[in-house]
Amino acid sequence: MRIGVPREIKPQEGRVALLAGEVRELADDGHEVFVERGAGILSGVTDADYAAAGATLLDDGTAVYQSARLIAKVKEVLPQEYGALRPDHIVMTNIHGALNRNEVDRFLEVGLTAIALEDTHRYGSPNCALAGEIGAFEGLRLVFAPNGGTGRHLFTHFGAPPIEAAVVGLGNVGRGALRTLLAFDVDVIGLDIDRGARGRAELDWSGRRFRSGDIDILSGLLDRLDLVINCVLWPKHRNDHLVNRADLGRMKPGAAIIDISCDEAGAIETSRPTSWRDPVYLEEGIRHFCVDNIPGAVPVAASAGYARAILPHIRHVAGEGALEACRHDPWLRRGLTCADGTLTHAETARIQKRDHVPVDRFLGIEAA
Ligand SMILES: NC(=O)c1ccc[n+]([C@@H]2O[C@H](COP(=O)([O-])OP(=O)(O)OC[C@H]3O[C@@H](n4cnc5c(N)ncnc54)[C@H](O)[C@@H]3O)[C@@H](O)[C@H]2O)c1
Repeated sequence: MRIGVPREIKPQEGRVALLAGEVRELADDGHEVFVERGAGILSGVTDADYAAAGATLLDDGTAVYQSARLIAKVKEVLPQEYGALRPDHIVMTNIHGALNRNEVDRFLEVGLTAIALEDTHRYGSPNCALAGEIGAFEGLRLVFAPNGGTGRHLFTHFGAPPIEAAVVGLGNVGRGALRTLLAFDVDVIGLDIDRGARGRAELDWSGRRFRSGDIDILSGLLDRLDLVINCVLWPKHRNDHLVNRADLGRMKPGAAIIDISCDEAGAIETSRPTSWRDPVYLEEGIRHFCVDNIPGAVPVAASAGYARAILPHIRHVAGEGALEACRHDPWLRRGLTCADGTLTHAETARIQKRDHVPVDRFLGIEAA
């Protein structure tokens, strides 16, 4: 299979889908790999590294799309890339189809095969922990007075009250946020609807300045928290919120919301995704940090994790073809978004209120 790795063109995005080690493994399998010049530079991989691993370097993204059949990416396919798409392309990337109607429309129009890699991670997305770790770090910076924060300190000094933070949602991202906050010994409460998630966090952080609670108590804490860090996986069809616009008036002046989940009007009613270029905005006097590609800030680590996680899927698709690989691997199948102009992604169909063919039926898999 001819596999292409274009440079990511989303602003401030330095990640790349495959590093030199993965390229070497694919080349050893007998595949041809085409990499756009400079694609790996912010992830610590030079063009020379890729060439030594067996890749062919190409001058621009269009040439990569032209030369390859399987396109391996990190972020959504952006409008600037639409013109290069062909029906025989297999696009494997984080598609977030439910939120990106234009992208899905384009895929369906072209008739290509698209696999949403965000749905294929059996052990959780490799970059979620990084998003939590860095999001919490940015949150701590926002507490400092010159940044408009409450001016509290990380540590207790002279009897003055230190930072109080809540981490809402104790999954992959929330556990990353706890790692940063508790590395600084910040006073943290972790909230989750799932008793198991709360119990695991209590065990992990026993003896530290950590306690957990049910999500119901969040509202009563809002007037004392310096930081609210949202890490909940919010169902896209829900219209209610954990923190409503009216609740912001009860927060302390200078408090901040770090919405790592950053769903538009999701768990936090006033959230909308932002970028690293302009990460923070103000609503009802409360700063919101809602960067939707937080791990892009640490591309060296993030690309290493991502490339390792997606390599088995890339190998499988390159070896067997996209649909056959999806028939054999239920995790890959979860990500199949469309093929031959047919939408197969149930969540995208539900959110966008459009027709789809369930993926199992599309692939001719009989119910057990
Ligand atoms: N901004 C970024 O760059 C970035 C990067 C990675 C992930 N994310 C997002 O972070 C979010 C969390 O991802 P994850 O992998 O940690 O998910 P996860 O499923 O591992 O964890 C989510 C947690 O939220 C809890 N939860 C669900 N509903 C809740 C509710 N109503 N109240 C309280 N807790 C609730 C669950 O019990 C679970 O423990 C996702 O939306 C993901 O897309 C953002």
